[in-house]
Amino acid sequence: MGGKIFAHRGASQLAPENTMPAFELAYQLKADAIETDVQLTKDRIPVLFHDIRLNRTTNQKGYIKDFTYEQLTKLDAGSWFSKKYIGTSIVSLEDFLKWVEDKPLMINLELKNHKIAYKHLEEIVLEMIEYFQMEERIILSSFNPASVQRLAKMTHIQTAFLTSKRRTDLVEYAQSLGATALHIQYRLLRGNIVEQSRNRNMPLRVYTVNKRRQLLRCFQKKCDGIITDVPHKAQRIRNLF
Ligand code: G3P
Ligand code: CA
Repeated sequence: MGGKIFAHRGASQLAPENTMPAFELAYQLKADAIETDVQLTKDRIPVLFHDIRLNRTTNQKGYIKDFTYEQLTKLDAGSWFSKKYIGTSIVSLEDFLKWVEDKPLMINLELKNHKIAYKHLEEIVLEMIEYFQMEERIILSSFNPASVQRLAKMTHIQTAFLTSKRRTDLVEYAQSLGATALHIQYRLLRGNIVEQSRNRNMPLRVYTVNKRRQLLRCFQKKCDGIITDVPHKAQRIRNLF
């Protein structure tokens, strides 16, 4: 078996991102893992949502941080994608973890704290993981190096530094933050990054890989994880190896 397939925001090419239909599909399509984004509401409830604003994927405008959880549950997070998904709601981290509890899926929670530095997001997320006792199945990631550093000091849960920025000492840098894994944008998959990560015992996962040619290259290079909107397509390509 090659690298693990992570359904990016769920099976987000087939259903509205970060919603239960997208997560359900990822599970049915036999993805190994689900990647999703965590932010905080005004009343500090962790919810799964990618953009800092509601505008693109709901019927409301404004920042997610300015709405209470109760207000957010009333929004439609599905109809932007297709009429078929009218009435689909924003999901809380708690409801997601309840759903995933009995399923053999790994979970990558991306703490979306590089544009808005949600205070204590790390603590709130860690407390919930502890409540569900899911430490072994979770990978925490962030584009925010300070958050990765904080997490590494607070927990033994696998923590990944996420980046799209090129630098020659990337693996070393991620390790210096205390990260145990590195999640890179596909364009950074060059040079000897695979060897470097292997030498330093850092799992290397790549996002967001949707094209056949790119998927083939990731499996050929034996990346540890491939974060993709099309887990079904990734499965077919992995089966070629
Ligand atoms: O976790 C990988 C990927 O999701 C990071 O980028 O913008 O899709 O959250 P983004
Ligand atoms: Ca993400």
